[in-house]
Amino acid sequence: MKSAISVGAEDRVFVLTGAGISAESGLPTFRASDGLWAGHAIEDVCTPEAWERNPGLVWEFYSERRKQGATAQPNPAHVALAELEKQLGERFFLCTQNVDDLHERAGSVRLVHMHGELAKARCEWECGRPAIDDHAIYASLSEVGRCPCGGRLRPHIVFFGEIPLEMDRIQQEIQKATLMMVVGTSGSVYPAANFVHWARQGGARTVYVGPEPPLNASAFTHVVEGKAGEVLPGLFVF
Ligand SMILES: NC(=O)c1ccc[n+]([C@@H]2O[C@H](COP(=O)([O-])OP(=O)(O)OC[C@H]3O[C@@H](n4cnc5c(N)ncnc54)[C@H](O)[C@@H]3O)[C@@H](O)[C@H]2O)c1
Ligand SMILES: [Zn+2]
Repeated sequence: MKSAISVGAEDRVFVLTGAGISAESGLPTFRASDGLWAGHAIEDVCTPEAWERNPGLVWEFYSERRKQGATAQPNPAHVALAELEKQLGERFFLCTQNVDDLHERAGSVRLVHMHGELAKARCEWECGRPAIDDHAIYASLSEVGRCPCGGRLRPHIVFFGEIPLEMDRIQQEIQKATLMMVVGTSGSVYPAANFVHWARQGGARTVYVGPEPPLNASAFTHVVEGKAGEVLPGLFVF
């Protein structure tokens, strides 16, 4: 029998998504291949040290991700969350660890990208200027522009070891939530892996959706095993 999650008139839903929700759109997750992301060791392409050592390689890697992201399409899981937001309005909030834009393209609006966005760049010196739209596919570092302050533009991505974005807003939204849905994340990257604990402390129901239990599975009141694109459409009953 298909699982059902009831959403009442008083519920406030906080959704956390990870790489797994984009897997059915053809974007590889990263634990799928022994901690490599698309064939690269994380420490070579997504750490502050990698940026210091070889910014050209970092841009090459994220240019490749941009190319791949541009051809991917939202899948039924992204669409189901956009539809849930339409039903709930202000009582819905989406936090994604993904850097692709498939949630926006499916119609989600109340969302934050806690680990940054592929289609943006910002100053490497954190001079205070906001991130800018940047869809370029860079063939070499010499093509990468500079900030007016002189710093080089870097991907608007939270590298491993850096502090995630929008944490104040995320914490506020988790405090208000009565239902936390976590979709397609291995529960190994912090602080995101702690969100379920914060929600439990506030008394929320906590539901995980994915083909295998995450590392923090015991913190969930309910685990629905299956692919996000098959489970999410029709999961919510009102
Ligand atoms: N699309 C992207 O933007 C993308 C892709 C890879 C990695 N990343 C980055 O790397 C980090 C990876 O951590 P993570 O925990 O998100 O991913 P992860 O790669 O560590 O784990 C992926 C999880 O998705 C699950 N999964 C696989 N197929 C699924 C499906 N069809 N439906 C639902 N779940 C499925 C797996 O069981 C696994 O638990 C993130 O912080 C993210 O920023 C982003
Ligand atoms: Zn600058």
